[in-house]
Amino acid sequence: MTQFDNRPIGVFDSGVGGLTVVRSLRSLIPDEEILYFGDMARCPYGDRHPREVQQFSKEVLDFLYNQGVKALVVACNTATAVALPILQARYPIPVIGVIQPGARAAIRVTRTGRIGVIGTAVTIHSGAYPEAVHHVAPEVEVFSEACPQFVPLVEQGLVAGADVEAIVAESLAELLGKDIDSLVLGCTHYPLLAPIIQAVTGPDVQLISSAEQTAEEVKTLLRRSNSLHAPQDRETRPADRFYTSSDGTRMRRAIELWLGDAGGPEFRGALVVPVQLPSAQSY
Ligand code: DGL
Repeated sequence: MTQFDNRPIGVFDSGVGGLTVVRSLRSLIPDEEILYFGDMARCPYGDRHPREVQQFSKEVLDFLYNQGVKALVVACNTATAVALPILQARYPIPVIGVIQPGARAAIRVTRTGRIGVIGTAVTIHSGAYPEAVHHVAPEVEVFSEACPQFVPLVEQGLVAGADVEAIVAESLAELLGKDIDSLVLGCTHYPLLAPIIQAVTGPDVQLISSAEQTAEEVKTLLRRSNSLHAPQDRETRPADRFYTSSDGTRMRRAIELWLGDAGGPEFRGALVVPVQLPSAQSY
């Protein structure tokens, strides 16, 4: 007999980038209800001290956990890179990161064994991607590059145009000299720049978004533990809830921009809720 767990899934990112994971979750397991938290007041995380990222991540996940979620998705590579084990030890529910799923996808895709990874400075300096790749496939070569300019562009909704393309081309120039055949978008903000990144890399480099692979792993985990949400009507299901540590305007705009078409009617009524975290002003 199939059993269900109708509690929501908590999804966390430093800003709007984790909406790419929400989009993948929604298309793969549309019955699930999602509580999203974008820590927009403190974004970007990508060039902060790892301890600060750990502290922020705990504050956000404590908040989501206290809303009664059944699983937590750390839809932020930076937080996954420096905080995942701490977070997994902290909560008695599954806590899923985005780096291992992305690494596994890259290993499946590469034919030449030469993978590129781009991410924030914290993610790249942590070495978490090469570690995750080499854990499974020690023979694969990983070439990494921090792209600190990308997140601010996405947070401002700047994802097209000659200026953006010039920044992307400059950031990727060295990596593209390494003869890679696949490129992991190791930051959940980057899929929103994917068309321009692909234009710069050319068609021979396959882009890998950890968002889709993470959604697959969440689905597998929930199915195996009989914890999927019971089927529900798409038109009448409750609206998802999007918390932000900033004011709601930018989050609402990002939802319209990134989830509007993919998400279907329920996102038009998405609830955006500004939240003050305990130490939000203290750094
Ligand atoms: N989107 C986040 C990531 O995946 C972090 C961006 C940032 O806050 O710097 O790394």
